[in-house]
Amino acid sequence: MIIAVSFHIFTSVNLLLRTIHYTSDCSVRQYNTEPRRRRHGGNCFTRFFSFGDSITDNGNWMRYARSPGAVARPPYGETFFRRPNGRLCDGRIIIDHIADALGMPFLTPYLAGNTSEDYAHGANFAVGGATALGHDYFRGKKLDARFTPYSLHWQMSWLKKVLRMLSPEQGRGWSDLMASSLFLVGEIGGNDYNQALFQGRSFDEELIELGARTVVVPGNFPIGCNPGYLTKFQTNDTAQYDSMGCLRWPNDLTELHNRALRAELAELGRWHRRVAVVYADYYAAAMDLTADPRKHGFGGEPLVSCCGGGGPYNTNLTVHCGMRTATTCRDP
Ligand SMILES: *[C@@H]1O[C@H](CO)[C@@H](O)[C@H](O)[C@H]1NC(C)=O
Ligand SMILES: *[C@@H]1O[C@H](CO)[C@@H](O)[C@H](O)[C@H]1NC(C)=O
Ligand SMILES: *[C@@H]1O[C@H](CO)[C@@H](O)[C@H](O)[C@H]1NC(C)=O
Repeated sequence: MIIAVSFHIFTSVNLLLRTIHYTSDCSVRQYNTEPRRRRHGGNCFTRFFSFGDSITDNGNWMRYARSPGAVARPPYGETFFRRPNGRLCDGRIIIDHIADALGMPFLTPYLAGNTSEDYAHGANFAVGGATALGHDYFRGKKLDARFTPYSLHWQMSWLKKVLRMLSPEQGRGWSDLMASSLFLVGEIGGNDYNQALFQGRSFDEELIELGARTVVVPGNFPIGCNPGYLTKFQTNDTAQYDSMGCLRWPNDLTELHNRALRAELAELGRWHRRVAVVYADYYAAAMDLTADPRKHGFGGEPLVSCCGGGGPYNTNLTVHCGMRTATTCRDP
C-alpha cells in the first residue's frame, strides 16, 4: 500500500498522522502547534524510530564528533530548548512534532542512551551528514569519504542493538516490537545522489523483513531554493531561476530523485500489501513555504539564511552559523 501525503510543515504533521491512522488502524490525537504536556505512550504506536541525516539529527553528531563545530554553539537551540542540543535548528525539528503528535516524549538520540529504558519510546539514529550509502561505495568510486561513517547501513545495526536490548528473544519478540512502531526513513540521499535510492529500497525491505508495518519515507527538499546552492551556483542568467528565485536545475534534479523514489515505494507497497508505506512530500511543503512564508508564520525572505556569512543569501560556505563572524537575524 502506498499513500502520498503532501507534508506541509506544521499543519501537515496532523495530516500525515491521520493518513497513517487511516492506513494502519491506530488512533492519533489531533495535533496542534502549541507546546503540550507530554503524555507517555499515546494510543497508537508504542515506539517511534527515525533514520536520516542533519535534517532529523537531535544529538548524535554532537555526541560522537570530536569537534562538533557550530551546532554546539548558539544560535542553535536558543529558541525552544534554550541551549545547543545537537539539532541543526534553533527550535524543534520534524521528529519533535511527530513525537508530540504521538503523545510521546522527544526521541532519545541513539548515542545518548545506554539502557532499554532510554529507548522505551524508540530512538533517533539520524546523524548529521549521513549518507544512504556506506564509505566503501564512495571509496570504490574514488570519491572523498571524509564524512560521517554512520550511513543508513550503520543506523540499521544500531536499530538491531536497540531491539536486542528491548527484546532479547528475537523472532516473535522483535516482529511484535517492529509492528507496533512507526518508522521514519529520511529524508536521506541528499548527501549522496547516485545509487542512494537503491540503498534506500533495500533498507526499507530490511525493516519490513524485521516486521515493520508502518514506514514513512520523505522525499528530498527543493535544493534549488537552498541558500547554499543559490550562493554556490549564483548566475546572471535569469532564465535559470524560477518565479520565486530558486535555481531550476537543482530542483529538476530533486524532482527526478523524488519521482524515482515514489516509483520504488509504489513497488515496495505492491510487494507488501499489509505494510503502510507512506511517501511524505517534503518538496511540496518546502515550495509552499517558500512561495508564502507569512502564511506559515515565517518572515518575508525565505531564500535568505537567518544566520550565516553575508552576501545576497546570507550564506558563505566557509563562514557557518554559530561562528564569530556570522550574523544572525533578530528573531531566529
Ligand atoms: C552510558 O554508560 C557509560 C559507561 O557506563 C557512561 O560513561 C555514560 O555516561 C552513559 N551515558 C549515558 C547517556 O547515560
Ligand atoms: C554578473 O554581472 C556583473 C556585472 O557584469 C559581474 O560583475 C558579476 O561578476 C556577474 N556575476 C556572476 C555570478 O557571473
Ligand atoms: C566568505 O568569507 C570569507 C572569510 O570571511 C571571505 O574571505 C570570502 O570573500 C567570503 N566569500 C564570499 C563569496 O563572500
